[in-house]
Amino acid sequence: MGWPFLGELPTLLWYFKFLRRPDEYIDSKRRKYGEGEGLYRTHLFGSPAIIACSPRAIKLVLQSDENFYQEWPTFQLMGATSMVSVHGEAHKRVRSFVVGAINNPNSLRRIALRIQPRLISALDSWAQTGRITVYKEVKKVTLENMAKYFASFESEPFLDTLDELYQGMVDGFRANPVNFPGTVYHRALRCRRKLMAIFKEELENRKKHPNEAKKDVMEGLREIKDEEGNQLSDIEVVDNIVSLLVGGYESTVLATMWAFYYLAKYPHVLQNLRDEHSNIMSKKQVGDFITYDEISTCEYTSKVVAETIRLANISAFVFRTASKDVEYKGYIIPKGWRVMCWLRYVHTDSENFENPFCFNPERWNVPPKASTNLVFGKGTRTCAGNKLAQLQLSIILHHLAMGYKWELVNPEAKIIYLPHPKPEDRVVIDFCKI
Ligand code: HEM
Repeated sequence: MGWPFLGELPTLLWYFKFLRRPDEYIDSKRRKYGEGEGLYRTHLFGSPAIIACSPRAIKLVLQSDENFYQEWPTFQLMGATSMVSVHGEAHKRVRSFVVGAINNPNSLRRIALRIQPRLISALDSWAQTGRITVYKEVKKVTLENMAKYFASFESEPFLDTLDELYQGMVDGFRANPVNFPGTVYHRALRCRRKLMAIFKEELENRKKHPNEAKKDVMEGLREIKDEEGNQLSDIEVVDNIVSLLVGGYESTVLATMWAFYYLAKYPHVLQNLRDEHSNIMSKKQVGDFITYDEISTCEYTSKVVAETIRLANISAFVFRTASKDVEYKGYIIPKGWRVMCWLRYVHTDSENFENPFCFNPERWNVPPKASTNLVFGKGTRTCAGNKLAQLQLSIILHHLAMGYKWELVNPEAKIIYLPHPKPEDRVVIDFCKI
Protein backbone atom coordinates (compact mmCIF):
# COMPACT_ATOMS: atom_id res chain seq x y z
CA MET A 1 0.00 0.00 0.00
CA GLY A 2 3.01 2.27 -0.46
CA TRP A 3 4.37 5.02 1.77
CA PRO A 4 2.88 6.28 5.02
CA PHE A 5 0.36 9.09 4.24
CA LEU A 6 1.26 9.26 0.53
CA GLY A 7 0.41 5.64 -0.17
CA GLU A 8 1.13 4.67 -3.75
CA LEU A 9 0.71 8.14 -5.20
CA PRO A 10 4.45 8.53 -5.94
CA THR A 11 4.43 5.17 -7.77
CA LEU A 12 1.36 6.12 -9.77
CA LEU A 13 2.89 9.48 -10.72
CA TRP A 14 6.12 7.70 -11.66
CA TYR A 15 4.27 5.63 -14.25
CA PHE A 16 1.79 8.28 -15.41
CA LYS A 17 3.90 11.44 -15.37
CA PHE A 18 7.55 10.45 -15.48
CA LEU A 19 7.66 7.25 -17.56
CA ARG A 20 4.47 8.19 -19.46
CA ARG A 21 3.55 4.51 -19.60
CA PRO A 22 0.48 4.48 -17.35
CA ASP A 23 -0.56 0.91 -18.05
CA GLU A 24 2.69 -0.41 -16.65
CA TYR A 25 1.49 0.60 -13.19
CA ILE A 26 -1.03 -2.25 -13.36
CA ASP A 27 1.41 -4.51 -15.25
CA SER A 28 3.82 -4.16 -12.33
CA LYS A 29 1.11 -5.30 -9.91
CA ARG A 30 0.25 -8.27 -12.10
CA ARG A 31 3.92 -9.29 -12.17
CA LYS A 32 4.37 -8.86 -8.45
CA TYR A 33 1.13 -10.28 -7.07
CA GLY A 34 -0.18 -12.45 -9.90
CA GLU A 35 -3.34 -11.94 -11.92
CA GLY A 36 -5.87 -13.32 -9.49
CA GLU A 37 -9.24 -11.78 -10.16
CA GLY A 38 -7.89 -8.40 -11.28
CA LEU A 39 -8.33 -6.85 -7.81
CA TYR A 40 -5.43 -5.18 -5.98
CA ARG A 41 -5.20 -3.37 -2.68
CA THR A 42 -3.60 0.06 -2.63
CA HIS A 43 -3.66 3.49 -1.01
CA LEU A 44 -4.33 6.35 -3.41
CA PHE A 45 -5.63 9.94 -3.27
CA GLY A 46 -5.68 9.96 0.51
CA SER A 47 -7.44 6.71 1.34
CA PRO A 48 -7.05 2.94 1.18
CA ALA A 49 -8.55 1.66 -2.04
CA ILE A 50 -9.13 -1.39 -4.19
CA ILE A 51 -8.15 -1.33 -7.84
CA ALA A 52 -10.47 -3.33 -10.09
CA CYS A 53 -8.80 -3.77 -13.48
CA SER A 54 -10.19 -6.94 -15.10
CA PRO A 55 -13.48 -6.99 -17.04
CA ARG A 56 -15.07 -9.37 -14.53
CA ALA A 57 -13.98 -7.39 -11.46
CA ILE A 58 -15.21 -4.12 -12.96
CA LYS A 59 -18.49 -5.74 -13.92
CA LEU A 60 -18.87 -6.97 -10.34
CA VAL A 61 -18.48 -3.43 -9.02
CA LEU A 62 -20.45 -1.44 -11.60
CA GLN A 63 -23.35 -3.85 -11.71
CA SER A 64 -24.04 -4.21 -8.01
CA ASP A 65 -25.45 -0.92 -6.80
CA GLU A 66 -26.57 -2.56 -3.57
CA ASN A 67 -22.89 -3.19 -2.67
CA PHE A 68 -21.15 -0.21 -4.24
CA TYR A 69 -22.33 3.39 -4.44
CA GLN A 70 -21.02 6.42 -6.23
CA GLU A 71 -19.88 9.29 -4.02
CA TRP A 72 -17.83 11.33 -6.43
CA PRO A 73 -18.03 14.17 -7.22
CA THR A 74 -19.46 15.86 -4.13
CA PHE A 75 -23.16 16.51 -4.38
CA GLN A 76 -22.66 20.14 -3.29
CA LEU A 77 -20.81 20.66 -6.57
CA MET A 78 -23.13 18.63 -8.77
CA GLY A 79 -26.42 19.60 -7.10
CA ALA A 80 -28.50 17.47 -4.73
CA THR A 81 -31.03 16.55 -7.43
CA SER A 82 -28.56 15.89 -10.23
CA MET A 83 -28.63 12.37 -11.60
CA VAL A 84 -24.99 11.92 -10.60
CA SER A 85 -25.77 12.70 -6.94
CA VAL A 86 -28.90 10.63 -6.36
CA HIS A 87 -29.06 6.87 -5.81
CA GLY A 88 -31.39 3.91 -6.16
CA GLU A 89 -34.96 4.65 -7.22
CA ALA A 90 -34.37 8.42 -7.23
CA HIS A 91 -31.50 7.94 -9.67
CA LYS A 92 -33.55 5.67 -11.88
CA ARG A 93 -36.33 8.25 -12.04
CA VAL A 94 -34.19 11.32 -12.85
CA ARG A 95 -32.00 9.36 -15.23
CA SER A 96 -34.98 8.11 -17.22
CA PHE A 97 -36.13 11.72 -17.74
CA VAL A 98 -32.69 12.95 -18.76
CA VAL A 99 -31.85 10.05 -21.05
CA GLY A 100 -35.34 10.37 -22.54
CA ALA A 101 -34.69 14.05 -23.27
CA ILE A 102 -31.23 13.85 -24.83
CA ASN A 103 -30.51 10.33 -26.02
CA ASN A 104 -33.75 9.63 -27.92
CA PRO A 105 -33.84 9.61 -31.76
CA ASN A 106 -35.99 12.75 -32.05
CA SER A 107 -33.71 14.96 -30.01
CA LEU A 108 -30.65 13.41 -31.69
CA ARG A 109 -32.22 14.22 -35.09
CA ARG A 110 -32.70 17.84 -34.02
CA ILE A 111 -29.23 18.15 -32.50
CA ALA A 112 -27.61 16.67 -35.63
CA LEU A 113 -29.03 19.51 -37.74
CA ARG A 114 -28.45 22.22 -35.14
CA ILE A 115 -24.73 21.65 -34.71
CA GLN A 116 -23.72 21.63 -38.38
CA PRO A 117 -23.87 25.34 -39.36
CA ARG A 118 -21.42 26.32 -36.59
CA LEU A 119 -19.21 23.35 -37.23
CA ILE A 120 -18.98 24.09 -40.96
CA SER A 121 -18.15 27.74 -40.38
CA ALA A 122 -15.51 26.81 -37.78
CA LEU A 123 -13.89 24.33 -40.17
CA ASP A 124 -13.83 26.95 -42.94
CA SER A 125 -12.22 29.53 -40.70
CA TRP A 126 -9.59 27.02 -39.50
CA ALA A 127 -8.76 26.21 -43.12
CA GLN A 128 -8.22 29.93 -43.77
CA THR A 129 -6.01 30.26 -40.70
CA GLY A 130 -3.94 27.23 -41.76
CA ARG A 131 -2.18 26.30 -38.52
CA ILE A 132 -4.43 25.65 -35.51
CA THR A 133 -4.33 23.98 -32.10
CA VAL A 134 -7.13 21.44 -32.36
CA TYR A 135 -7.94 21.21 -28.63
CA LYS A 136 -8.36 24.99 -28.31
CA GLU A 137 -10.48 25.44 -31.44
CA VAL A 138 -12.64 22.37 -30.88
CA LYS A 139 -13.35 23.60 -27.35
CA LYS A 140 -14.82 26.84 -28.70
CA VAL A 141 -17.08 25.26 -31.28
CA THR A 142 -18.19 22.48 -28.92
CA LEU A 143 -19.24 24.96 -26.25
CA GLU A 144 -21.04 27.13 -28.81
CA ASN A 145 -22.97 24.13 -30.00
CA MET A 146 -23.73 22.72 -26.55
CA ALA A 147 -24.92 26.12 -25.30
CA LYS A 148 -27.16 26.28 -28.35
CA TYR A 149 -28.72 22.86 -28.14
CA PHE A 150 -28.91 22.83 -24.33
CA ALA A 151 -30.53 26.22 -23.80
CA SER A 152 -30.52 28.16 -27.12
CA PHE A 153 -27.75 30.47 -25.84
CA GLU A 154 -26.00 32.32 -28.65
CA SER A 155 -23.94 35.39 -27.75
CA GLU A 156 -20.16 35.04 -27.84
CA PRO A 157 -18.93 37.07 -24.82
CA PHE A 158 -21.48 35.18 -22.75
CA LEU A 159 -19.98 31.87 -23.90
CA ASP A 160 -16.58 32.92 -22.52
CA THR A 161 -18.23 33.43 -19.12
CA LEU A 162 -19.86 30.02 -19.41
CA ASP A 163 -16.49 28.45 -20.21
CA GLU A 164 -14.79 30.15 -17.25
CA LEU A 165 -17.53 29.08 -14.82
CA TYR A 166 -17.45 25.53 -16.15
CA GLN A 167 -13.66 25.39 -15.77
CA GLY A 168 -13.80 26.78 -12.23
CA MET A 169 -16.40 24.19 -11.29
CA VAL A 170 -14.50 21.26 -12.79
CA ASP A 171 -11.30 22.31 -10.95
CA GLY A 172 -13.27 21.71 -7.76
CA PHE A 173 -13.73 17.99 -8.52
CA ARG A 174 -10.03 17.36 -8.18
CA ALA A 175 -9.55 19.63 -5.16
CA ASN A 176 -9.88 18.87 -1.46
CA PRO A 177 -13.51 19.61 -0.56
CA VAL A 178 -12.63 22.38 1.90
CA ASN A 179 -15.09 25.23 1.60
CA PHE A 180 -13.03 28.14 2.86
CA PRO A 181 -12.40 31.47 1.06
CA GLY A 182 -9.30 31.14 -1.12
CA THR A 183 -9.55 27.38 -1.73
CA VAL A 184 -10.11 25.89 -5.18
CA TYR A 185 -13.21 24.15 -3.84
CA HIS A 186 -14.69 27.41 -2.54
CA ARG A 187 -14.17 29.01 -5.96
CA ALA A 188 -15.72 25.96 -7.63
CA LEU A 189 -18.87 26.29 -5.50
CA ARG A 190 -19.08 29.99 -6.43
CA CYS A 191 -18.77 29.11 -10.12
CA ARG A 192 -21.51 26.52 -9.72
CA ARG A 193 -23.84 29.07 -8.10
CA LYS A 194 -23.27 31.49 -10.99
CA LEU A 195 -23.83 28.76 -13.59
CA MET A 196 -27.03 27.75 -11.85
CA ALA A 197 -28.18 31.39 -11.79
CA ILE A 198 -27.71 31.63 -15.57
CA PHE A 199 -29.80 28.54 -16.25
CA LYS A 200 -32.43 29.48 -13.62
CA GLU A 201 -32.89 32.90 -15.21
CA GLU A 202 -33.40 31.23 -18.59
CA LEU A 203 -35.97 28.90 -17.05
CA GLU A 204 -37.88 31.81 -15.48
CA ASN A 205 -37.90 33.63 -18.84
CA ARG A 206 -39.43 30.59 -20.45
CA LYS A 207 -42.18 30.53 -17.87
CA LYS A 208 -42.94 34.19 -18.56
CA HIS A 209 -43.07 33.62 -22.33
CA PRO A 210 -44.63 30.18 -22.77
CA ASN A 211 -45.48 30.86 -26.40
CA GLU A 212 -41.86 31.22 -27.44
CA ALA A 213 -41.08 27.56 -26.75
CA LYS A 214 -37.58 26.69 -27.83
CA LYS A 215 -36.65 23.28 -29.16
CA ASP A 216 -33.66 22.43 -26.97
CA VAL A 217 -32.59 20.09 -24.17
CA MET A 218 -33.83 22.43 -21.43
CA GLU A 219 -37.30 22.42 -23.01
CA GLY A 220 -37.08 18.64 -23.42
CA LEU A 221 -36.33 18.29 -19.70
CA ARG A 222 -39.19 20.66 -18.78
CA GLU A 223 -41.73 18.88 -20.93
CA ILE A 224 -40.90 15.22 -20.53
CA LYS A 225 -43.41 13.19 -18.49
CA ASP A 226 -43.24 9.70 -17.05
CA GLU A 227 -46.05 7.14 -17.44
CA GLU A 228 -48.02 8.71 -14.56
CA GLY A 229 -47.66 12.20 -16.04
CA ASN A 230 -45.06 13.38 -13.48
CA GLN A 231 -42.47 15.94 -14.54
CA LEU A 232 -39.09 17.14 -13.27
CA SER A 233 -39.14 20.09 -10.84
CA ASP A 234 -37.39 23.34 -11.81
CA ILE A 235 -34.37 22.61 -9.63
CA GLU A 236 -34.08 19.13 -11.15
CA VAL A 237 -34.10 20.63 -14.65
CA VAL A 238 -31.34 23.10 -13.79
CA ASP A 239 -29.19 20.68 -11.74
CA ASN A 240 -29.30 18.18 -14.57
CA ILE A 241 -28.54 20.67 -17.34
CA VAL A 242 -25.40 21.66 -15.41
CA SER A 243 -24.51 17.96 -14.91
CA LEU A 244 -24.89 17.31 -18.63
CA LEU A 245 -22.58 20.20 -19.38
CA VAL A 246 -20.04 18.79 -16.93
CA GLY A 247 -20.36 15.25 -18.31
CA GLY A 248 -20.45 16.20 -21.96
CA TYR A 249 -18.24 19.20 -22.65
CA GLU A 250 -14.62 18.19 -22.01
CA SER A 251 -15.28 14.54 -22.98
CA THR A 252 -16.61 15.56 -26.42
CA VAL A 253 -13.69 17.94 -26.96
CA LEU A 254 -11.14 15.25 -26.09
CA ALA A 255 -12.77 12.62 -28.30
CA THR A 256 -12.78 15.06 -31.23
CA MET A 257 -9.18 16.09 -30.63
CA TRP A 258 -8.08 12.43 -30.68
CA ALA A 259 -10.01 11.82 -33.91
CA PHE A 260 -7.92 14.54 -35.64
CA TYR A 261 -4.79 12.98 -34.19
CA TYR A 262 -5.47 9.36 -35.18
CA LEU A 263 -6.75 10.21 -38.66
CA ALA A 264 -3.55 12.17 -39.31
CA LYS A 265 -1.51 9.17 -38.21
CA TYR A 266 -3.63 6.60 -40.07
CA PRO A 267 -4.50 8.26 -43.43
CA HIS A 268 -5.99 5.07 -44.90
CA VAL A 269 -8.76 5.32 -42.28
CA LEU A 270 -9.54 8.86 -43.45
CA GLN A 271 -9.67 7.58 -47.03
CA ASN A 272 -12.14 4.84 -46.04
CA LEU A 273 -14.29 7.46 -44.33
CA ARG A 274 -14.18 9.58 -47.52
CA ASP A 275 -15.42 6.62 -49.54
CA GLU A 276 -18.28 5.92 -47.16
CA HIS A 277 -19.42 9.55 -46.95
CA SER A 278 -18.99 10.38 -50.67
CA ASN A 279 -21.32 7.51 -51.35
CA ILE A 280 -24.03 9.00 -49.12
CA MET A 281 -23.56 12.57 -50.31
CA SER A 282 -23.70 11.56 -53.99
CA LYS A 283 -27.44 11.01 -53.47
CA LYS A 284 -27.98 14.47 -51.91
CA GLN A 285 -28.02 18.12 -53.05
CA VAL A 286 -24.85 20.20 -52.64
CA GLY A 287 -24.93 21.96 -49.26
CA ASP A 288 -27.37 19.50 -47.63
CA PHE A 289 -26.55 18.53 -44.06
CA ILE A 290 -26.05 14.89 -43.19
CA THR A 291 -28.93 13.63 -41.02
CA TYR A 292 -29.02 11.46 -37.91
CA ASP A 293 -30.70 8.67 -39.90
CA GLU A 294 -27.97 8.76 -42.57
CA ILE A 295 -25.22 8.79 -39.95
CA SER A 296 -26.85 5.75 -38.34
CA THR A 297 -26.26 3.76 -41.55
CA CYS A 298 -22.50 4.55 -41.69
CA GLU A 299 -21.00 1.30 -40.44
CA TYR A 300 -17.37 2.20 -41.02
CA THR A 301 -17.81 5.57 -39.30
CA SER A 302 -19.27 3.88 -36.23
CA LYS A 303 -16.17 1.68 -36.05
CA VAL A 304 -13.89 4.73 -36.29
CA VAL A 305 -15.87 6.36 -33.49
CA ALA A 306 -15.64 3.23 -31.31
CA GLU A 307 -11.90 2.90 -31.93
CA THR A 308 -11.22 6.59 -31.26
CA ILE A 309 -13.02 6.48 -27.93
CA ARG A 310 -11.40 3.15 -26.93
CA LEU A 311 -7.86 4.36 -27.57
CA ALA A 312 -8.41 7.89 -26.26
CA ASN A 313 -9.37 6.53 -22.82
CA ILE A 314 -11.03 9.77 -21.80
CA SER A 315 -12.51 8.27 -18.62
CA ALA A 316 -9.51 6.32 -17.40
CA PHE A 317 -11.17 5.34 -14.12
CA VAL A 318 -14.47 5.62 -12.30
CA PHE A 319 -14.91 5.44 -8.53
CA ARG A 320 -17.28 3.62 -6.19
CA THR A 321 -17.37 2.97 -2.43
CA ALA A 322 -18.25 -0.37 -0.79
CA SER A 323 -21.44 0.03 1.26
CA LYS A 324 -20.72 -3.23 3.19
CA ASP A 325 -18.02 -5.89 3.33
CA VAL A 326 -18.24 -7.54 -0.09
CA GLU A 327 -16.84 -11.02 -0.56
CA TYR A 328 -15.71 -12.06 -4.02
CA LYS A 329 -13.97 -15.37 -4.74
CA GLY A 330 -12.26 -15.45 -1.37
CA TYR A 331 -11.33 -11.73 -1.30
CA ILE A 332 -13.00 -9.17 0.94
CA ILE A 333 -13.58 -5.61 -0.22
CA PRO A 334 -13.99 -3.86 3.13
CA LYS A 335 -16.95 -1.60 3.88
CA GLY A 336 -16.14 2.07 3.29
CA TRP A 337 -13.17 1.39 1.00
CA ARG A 338 -13.02 3.17 -2.28
CA VAL A 339 -12.93 1.02 -5.42
CA MET A 340 -11.23 2.43 -8.51
CA CYS A 341 -12.50 0.77 -11.68
CA TRP A 342 -9.48 1.05 -13.95
CA LEU A 343 -11.31 1.23 -17.28
CA ARG A 344 -8.27 2.21 -19.33
CA TYR A 345 -6.41 -0.96 -18.48
CA VAL A 346 -9.22 -3.10 -19.93
CA HIS A 347 -8.89 -1.18 -23.22
CA THR A 348 -5.10 -1.44 -23.41
CA ASP A 349 -4.68 -5.05 -22.27
CA SER A 350 -3.68 -7.29 -25.20
CA GLU A 351 -5.80 -10.08 -23.69
CA ASN A 352 -8.86 -8.00 -24.56
CA PHE A 353 -7.76 -6.14 -27.71
CA GLU A 354 -5.11 -7.52 -30.02
CA ASN A 355 -2.25 -5.08 -30.62
CA PRO A 356 -4.10 -2.63 -28.35
CA PHE A 357 -2.14 0.55 -29.14
CA CYS A 358 -2.76 0.26 -32.87
CA PHE A 359 -5.66 2.42 -34.12
CA ASN A 360 -7.59 -0.20 -36.03
CA PRO A 361 -11.31 0.43 -36.70
CA GLU A 362 -11.53 -2.99 -38.39
CA ARG A 363 -11.18 -4.69 -35.01
CA TRP A 364 -14.86 -3.76 -34.49
CA ASN A 365 -15.84 -6.04 -37.41
CA VAL A 366 -16.41 -8.59 -34.67
CA PRO A 367 -18.01 -7.77 -31.32
CA PRO A 368 -15.54 -7.25 -28.45
CA LYS A 369 -15.17 -9.87 -25.71
CA ALA A 370 -17.76 -9.64 -22.92
CA SER A 371 -17.41 -6.54 -20.70
CA THR A 372 -14.28 -5.25 -22.44
CA ASN A 373 -15.81 -2.18 -24.07
CA LEU A 374 -16.15 0.02 -21.01
CA VAL A 375 -15.61 3.44 -22.58
CA PHE A 376 -19.01 4.63 -21.37
CA GLY A 377 -18.92 2.65 -18.11
CA LYS A 378 -21.37 -0.12 -17.29
CA GLY A 379 -24.54 -0.77 -15.33
CA THR A 380 -27.07 1.75 -14.10
CA ARG A 381 -24.65 4.65 -14.44
CA THR A 382 -23.60 4.01 -18.03
CA CYS A 383 -22.95 7.35 -19.73
CA ALA A 384 -26.25 9.20 -20.14
CA GLY A 385 -24.97 10.99 -23.25
CA ASN A 386 -23.33 8.05 -25.04
CA LYS A 387 -25.46 8.27 -28.19
CA LEU A 388 -25.10 12.02 -28.30
CA ALA A 389 -21.31 11.73 -27.95
CA GLN A 390 -21.13 9.16 -30.78
CA LEU A 391 -23.39 11.28 -32.98
CA GLN A 392 -21.34 14.45 -32.52
CA LEU A 393 -18.13 12.65 -33.32
CA SER A 394 -19.64 11.00 -36.41
CA ILE A 395 -20.81 14.36 -37.75
CA ILE A 396 -17.37 15.87 -37.33
CA LEU A 397 -15.83 12.87 -39.09
CA HIS A 398 -18.29 13.37 -41.92
CA HIS A 399 -17.32 17.01 -42.52
CA LEU A 400 -13.61 16.33 -42.12
CA ALA A 401 -13.72 13.45 -44.56
CA MET A 402 -15.74 15.36 -47.16
CA GLY A 403 -13.75 18.55 -47.26
CA TYR A 404 -10.40 18.74 -45.48
CA LYS A 405 -6.88 17.41 -45.10
CA TRP A 406 -4.36 18.06 -42.35
CA GLU A 407 -0.98 17.08 -40.93
CA LEU A 408 0.35 16.95 -37.39
CA VAL A 409 3.01 19.63 -36.84
CA ASN A 410 4.54 17.61 -33.98
CA PRO A 411 3.83 13.96 -34.78
CA GLU A 412 6.17 12.82 -32.00
CA ALA A 413 4.67 15.09 -29.31
CA LYS A 414 4.71 13.36 -25.93
CA ILE A 415 1.44 12.39 -24.28
CA ILE A 416 0.27 13.79 -20.95
CA TYR A 417 -1.95 11.31 -19.06
CA LEU A 418 -3.34 13.32 -16.14
CA PRO A 419 -6.01 14.48 -15.66
CA HIS A 420 -6.92 13.27 -19.18
CA PRO A 421 -4.73 11.96 -22.00
CA LYS A 422 -3.63 14.70 -24.44
CA PRO A 423 -0.61 15.21 -26.67
CA GLU A 424 1.62 17.84 -25.06
CA ASP A 425 1.03 20.32 -27.91
CA ARG A 426 -2.80 19.80 -27.77
CA VAL A 427 -2.58 18.64 -31.42
CA VAL A 428 -1.20 21.45 -33.56
CA ILE A 429 -2.02 20.84 -37.23
CA ASP A 430 -1.68 22.42 -40.64
CA PHE A 431 -5.24 22.32 -41.92
CA CYS A 432 -6.69 23.12 -45.35
CA LYS A 433 -9.50 22.30 -47.77
CA ILE A 434 -9.03 19.34 -50.09
C1 HEM B 1 -16.70 10.42 -25.65
C2 HEM B 1 -17.38 11.06 -24.76
C3 HEM B 1 -17.80 10.52 -23.42
C4 HEM B 1 -17.22 9.56 -22.63
C5 HEM B 1 -15.96 8.74 -22.91
C6 HEM B 1 -18.05 9.43 -21.44
C7 HEM B 1 -17.80 8.53 -20.41
C8 HEM B 1 -18.64 8.34 -19.32
C9 HEM B 1 -18.46 7.32 -18.31
C10 HEM B 1 -17.33 6.30 -18.27
C11 HEM B 1 -19.48 7.45 -17.42
C12 HEM B 1 -19.75 6.56 -16.20
C13 HEM B 1 -19.32 7.20 -14.91
C14 HEM B 1 -19.48 6.27 -13.71
O1 HEM B 1 -19.85 5.11 -13.85
O2 HEM B 1 -19.19 6.75 -12.61
C15 HEM B 1 -20.29 8.57 -17.84
C16 HEM B 1 -21.42 9.03 -17.17
C17 HEM B 1 -22.13 10.15 -17.55
N1 HEM B 1 -21.99 10.86 -18.72
FE1 HEM B 1 -20.61 10.52 -20.17
N2 HEM B 1 -19.09 10.32 -21.52
C18 HEM B 1 -18.99 11.00 -22.72
C19 HEM B 1 -19.88 11.96 -23.21
C20 HEM B 1 -20.97 12.43 -22.54
C21 HEM B 1 -21.91 13.42 -23.07
C22 HEM B 1 -21.84 14.05 -24.47
C23 HEM B 1 -22.81 13.67 -22.07
C24 HEM B 1 -24.00 14.60 -22.06
C25 HEM B 1 -24.15 15.65 -22.81
C26 HEM B 1 -22.46 12.83 -20.93
C27 HEM B 1 -23.13 12.80 -19.73
C28 HEM B 1 -22.91 11.88 -18.73
C29 HEM B 1 -23.69 11.84 -17.50
C30 HEM B 1 -24.79 12.81 -17.10
C31 HEM B 1 -23.21 10.74 -16.75
C32 HEM B 1 -23.70 10.26 -15.39
C33 HEM B 1 -24.73 9.15 -15.57
C34 HEM B 1 -25.33 8.64 -14.27
O3 HEM B 1 -24.79 8.89 -13.18
O4 HEM B 1 -26.36 7.97 -14.37
N3 HEM B 1 -21.34 12.09 -21.26
N4 HEM B 1 -19.78 9.10 -19.01
